[in-house]
Amino acid sequence: MITGRARLAGVLGWPVGHSRSPRLHNHWLAQYGIDGAYVPLPVRPDDFARAVTGLRAAGFAGANVTTPHKEAAFCLSDTLDDAARRAGAVNTLVFSAAGIHGRNTDGAGFLANLAAHGVGSGGPALLLGAGGAARAIAGALLAAGARVTVANRTPERAAALQAALPGLRLVDWGARRAALADQALLVNTTSLGMAGQPPLDLDFLGGAPPGLAVADIVYVPRRTALLARAEMQGLRTVPGLGMLLHQAVPGFSDWFGVVPVVDDETVALISADIPDI
Ligand code: ATR
Repeated sequence: MITGRARLAGVLGWPVGHSRSPRLHNHWLAQYGIDGAYVPLPVRPDDFARAVTGLRAAGFAGANVTTPHKEAAFCLSDTLDDAARRAGAVNTLVFSAAGIHGRNTDGAGFLANLAAHGVGSGGPALLLGAGGAARAIAGALLAAGARVTVANRTPERAAALQAALPGLRLVDWGARRAALADQALLVNTTSLGMAGQPPLDLDFLGGAPPGLAVADIVYVPRRTALLARAEMQGLRTVPGLGMLLHQAVPGFSDWFGVVPVVDDETVALISADIPDI
């Protein structure tokens, strides 16, 4: 039941129709009996700053930010948390009388998903990819004390990531099989393996040590070819859907005052229309 006092939040994106965040947040609002609503906010890039100002003027508590606005949200935030500063991008805006606070919860969501699968985050990790997702995840892993190595197809992009995140090691894209030998964790942060995208070449997994855990941030399908192959090799796996759910927790908590729990029911609700393989 929404009253005149309802707290409001939403997700800013362009396009935004594919976002699962409205379903997730409204599920939690209903579950906790909170007087609030969370709506999709399709906003063109040119209109982003105006839209944020307007939402704040209209009394919104804040908003999630998705593609292509994460860098713009970073630039217009008055204050930033450490993760947003590391990531150079903001995915969660919290409005208050003091101004606009920008957070990045992608890295923490990734770590929380690892923990939910019983996988630690302090060991050596090899990341495939050097885009926005890699930056948030590498930043969080480095902050957690991990030794992080990145392999990316385009070396210039890997070098740019290294410049932003001192301490990062780089290996050539072609050297990922050899680089795997002394890792505890492998993370695919590329879009390879996603429905409609090219597959990830999996031969390099032959170089995996027996204790390796394999995480994929791709969650459509839920069990990617990478995860299926890792399972076949007897490796522990961490599917990507949990990151999507866990990254939503801090925003919900900031806007609505309750820390929501990511339980089996939440996973089932959000994954209902995602193909398994
Ligand atoms: P995001 O912000 O979601 O991480 P992105 O910035 O577009 O998305 O990054 C996509 C990542 O997938 C990049 O690391 C990209 O590699 P390049 O820097 O070489 O473009 C990687 N990627 C995409 N298609 C690829 C392919 N066919 N082979 C190898 N890597 C690929």
